[in-house]
Amino acid sequence: MDEARLERELFTVGSALAGALPSSARHPLKALDTKAMDLASADAELKAALFRFVDVVPACRSLDDLSRHLTGFLGEVEAPPPPIAAAMRMGNTKAGRLAIGRAAATGVKHMAHRFIVGESPEAALGVLRGLWKDGVASSVDLLGEATVTQAEADRYAARCAEALDVVPAAAAEWPHRAQLESDPLGPLPRANLSVKVSALTPLLKPDAPARGKADAAGRLRELLHHAKRVGAHLHIDTESLDSRDATLELVLELLAEPEFADGPSAGMVLQAYLRDSPDTLDQVLDWVRSGPGAGRAQPLTVRLVKGAYWDHEVVDAQQHGWAVPVFEVKADCDRNFEALSRRLIDGQRAGGVRVAIASHNLRSVSAALAYNRLAGGEDGDLEFQILRGLGDPLQEALAANRIRVRAYCPVGDLVAGMAYLVRRLLENTSNDSFLHEQASGAPLEELLAPPGRGAEAPLGEPAGTV
Ligand code: 2OP
Repeated sequence: MDEARLERELFTVGSALAGALPSSARHPLKALDTKAMDLASADAELKAALFRFVDVVPACRSLDDLSRHLTGFLGEVEAPPPPIAAAMRMGNTKAGRLAIGRAAATGVKHMAHRFIVGESPEAALGVLRGLWKDGVASSVDLLGEATVTQAEADRYAARCAEALDVVPAAAAEWPHRAQLESDPLGPLPRANLSVKVSALTPLLKPDAPARGKADAAGRLRELLHHAKRVGAHLHIDTESLDSRDATLELVLELLAEPEFADGPSAGMVLQAYLRDSPDTLDQVLDWVRSGPGAGRAQPLTVRLVKGAYWDHEVVDAQQHGWAVPVFEVKADCDRNFEALSRRLIDGQRAGGVRVAIASHNLRSVSAALAYNRLAGGEDGDLEFQILRGLGDPLQEALAANRIRVRAYCPVGDLVAGMAYLVRRLLENTSNDSFLHEQASGAPLEELLAPPGRGAEAPLGEPAGTV
């Protein structure tokens, strides 16, 4: 591939997308209603205190209780910024505490609604329909993870089953949207569900992966049958590295069972921040080309992401004295993302996989589109995915350019969604994320420059941020 030509095409694509970003997107972080986020971005101690607070919110039983927790955590910040110091003084009286509690509860709820589309599949239908009408597909993510009891895993599976009944039935009534209904490989289900294996079993432990796999297999097999019956797509998310191999093996083993040879449409996730992600892609491509997945009627959708567990992976490795499994420099991760995108696009052209590029980074998205075009493909070959509440401006720009985009839409209550919310807050308050770079007003030439050559990334910055 002629790299200079590719960079020129990339700039053309990226400029068209940037031109279609809604005007508020020039400062997406400014749109965040909460001052706390801005403050937290600038102060690590404050950030830690706010995260600990967000974590306990669902367990607080009264506004007074909420406020005591908030001021307690903030009390550990050595030099709180003036607005926080003022709020803490209010915590000395009951009336002050109620006011702080009310404000904090409203703030957290508001933040949660930004990322979570509804408490139940039924409640999410309005948003899903609205997106579809605007040319945006969706994947409903049933919030829940790290299940600890069998009853909890059964409840999660039942919520997934409910979504598999409710969403396809409603989606059948949505208006026709040609660019979302099919790609050159065939029709695409309107209803699309994302699930997490750690929610389908309490036994997913790195020391005994076979037990967790076997326990999750029963529930996941049932969901695959259900998805096949109702014509929905089922996507199995990848979580932290300690369950990555078990999850991948489980998905590839189940999909190779004869009963799933002719469906449902299904997919898995490849995390580009993992240094060994190219090996995982080898394994998946072997599976579809010459392994047990060869000849399945439906291509396997591979969602390429950077990865949402960066902080966890780094801390976990450091605690154990292991080599850090993720790229620690953002440019390295971005370069790997582009290399994997190319291999996936080549893989799709060879058959057996569908590509979904999930990133909010204009450069990463444009790189995939440009590579596919120069390889002789059409934009409609590819799917792009964004996270609801973080990638909305890019979603709008992609849809305006008639490029297929799918919004990942979490559904569930605040307790189930807390870990998800914290991951989004980590991304939102990271100074190294693309969205932050974009918000700081970096010129397009910098935003679209090859990784490491634009707004220069310092060594050691997190690579997991979007
Ligand atoms: C997460 O749950 C988006 O699946 C990703 O953080």
